[in-house]
Amino acid sequence: MIKKVGIIGAGTMGAGIAQVAATAGCVVKIYDTKTAALEKAKSDLEKIMHRLVEKGKIDSEEKQRIQTNIKYVNSLKELKDSDLTIEAIVENLDIKKNVFSTLEKFVSDDCIIASNTSSLSIASIASSLQKPERCIGIHFFNPAPLMKLVEVIPSIQTSEETLNFSVETIKDWGKTVAVAKDTPGFIVNRVARPFYGEALRIYEEGIASFSEIDKAMKEIGGFRMGPFELMDFIGNDVNYTVTETVFEAFYFDPRYKPSFTQKRFAEAGYLGRKSGKGYYDYSENGQMSVR
Ligand code: NAI
Repeated sequence: MIKKVGIIGAGTMGAGIAQVAATAGCVVKIYDTKTAALEKAKSDLEKIMHRLVEKGKIDSEEKQRIQTNIKYVNSLKELKDSDLTIEAIVENLDIKKNVFSTLEKFVSDDCIIASNTSSLSIASIASSLQKPERCIGIHFFNPAPLMKLVEVIPSIQTSEETLNFSVETIKDWGKTVAVAKDTPGFIVNRVARPFYGEALRIYEEGIASFSEIDKAMKEIGGFRMGPFELMDFIGNDVNYTVTETVFEAFYFDPRYKPSFTQKRFAEAGYLGRKSGKGYYDYSENGQMSVR
């Protein structure tokens, strides 16, 4: 049984994964290079927990238990007693490899070292480790506490033991697991690239506005969120980088070609909900209006 979990990166995903693990009874240490990110993760969790108590989903004892289970740390070394670490930092291969090789110096030989990457090669990340067989992809979706599916991605170096242990742990955390091979975008992000890409092309060709496209996909397509709402939710920076990575990794297959519109939005800082402005404007109270 995994008892101690280390999370690297206290952003959208890291904070969400920490909540999932702590709710499942694990003791979690979450590390980020930015103190502000740790503080935000802590105050966001307080708000989420408060809301869950108000809705009657958990009682105040459970709230207290979950919050006490999460420690916010400002040194990677603090994760040294982890049974499992999950990295959720910036989607950059060199930075991830650097963090992984440093982390391996601190943790025990049995510790599983996982990445939440959406698109990078697990084989490549694993190559930074002395014991690459302990490395695996554990890919949560946003928001991690609400989304049932988790993709588990063994690379060619991953041991059966690491795979089985990871699958069992994620199931214990109440999630549904899909095991996928180590290929760009795995399952969901590969299918999702043309979904966003075609919506952006429809907009670029002047066929319809962001909101018209979203409306059509929701009302006719049956999606819970339209492609532009979803890109704003994920973050245009994160989403654009994933598209770029998948495009390159598939040897520039035009099916996955990134969009200049999204690139410009990311460059302008119109990242979506997290920056207050994306394809939609998000006012103080979170209301959305078309830009
Ligand atoms: P984010 O930008 O919200 O958070 C990243 C955090 O990592 C930041 O707080 C940053 O300060 C921290 N960080 C950066 N470099 C670091 C380092 N060297 N050591 C420690 N902390 C560091 O990003 P987000 O959205 O949480 O994504 C993180 C990872 O999860 C990426 O690999 C992304 O592709 C993946 N992912 C993102 C999803 C999404 O919808 N946003 C969904 C599934 C996976």
